[in-house]
Amino acid sequence: MEIMTQLESLKKIVKQKLKTNDPAHDFEHIMRVYRNAERICKTESGNKKLVLSAVLLHDIIKNKNQKNSAQKSAKLAEKILKDNNFSSNEIDIISCAIRDHSYSKGRIPSTIEGKILQDADRLDAIGAIGIARAFSFSGSNKRPFYDPKDPFSKNRNLNDNKWALDHFFKKLLTLEGKMNTKTGKSLAKRRTKILKNFLKEIKNEI
Ligand code: ADP
Ligand code: NI
Repeated sequence: MEIMTQLESLKKIVKQKLKTNDPAHDFEHIMRVYRNAERICKTESGNKKLVLSAVLLHDIIKNKNQKNSAQKSAKLAEKILKDNNFSSNEIDIISCAIRDHSYSKGRIPSTIEGKILQDADRLDAIGAIGIARAFSFSGSNKRPFYDPKDPFSKNRNLNDNKWALDHFFKKLLTLEGKMNTKTGKSLAKRRTKILKNFLKEIKNEI
């Protein structure tokens, strides 16, 4: 029972803090990752309370152009967890998971809780929702969908700071191979097929 109360109060804090109009990183991102993590916890070991707390706080600080947002989120998470009566051992595990989850850092989390958080977050970058997020992210930076001269980068280097479609090849299609858990990997496999179908279709349409 106490677990539910602690998670519910974290959820309230996060919802309040993440009143953003960035659809790629709003409270709904957190809730999708939460459901992914619940799904993974059914078949993997790992302390569910710690996993779900880490999920709720993993993007608590996320500003555009801000490097080290995982590090900063981990720091703020420590304070919030202390205020909510988590033990220091629990706080350590949760804040390490948050610090290590970020894609750009390229770390493999050392605990199973961190591995599940990273897998659950990565799942939200692929599949149908991943397609929506990639174009939303790119659009909010005023970038075109693709390079009209060479949409599939046959004769140029990938540049996902310029073209949304390049992000699929640069990052999204590689995620399946980087999943930590067996369950995460099998969920990623299905979502990667959706990406590949999308790429096939868009090739015909443009
Ligand atoms: P997270 O680790 O929470 O997935 P990111 O900030 O790396 O966060 O990315 C947020 C979303 O935007 C993800 O779905 C990601 O695939 C997408 N994204 C990140 N960088 C790019 C980019 N250069 N072009 C298109 N989409 C991007
Ligand atoms: Ni995230």
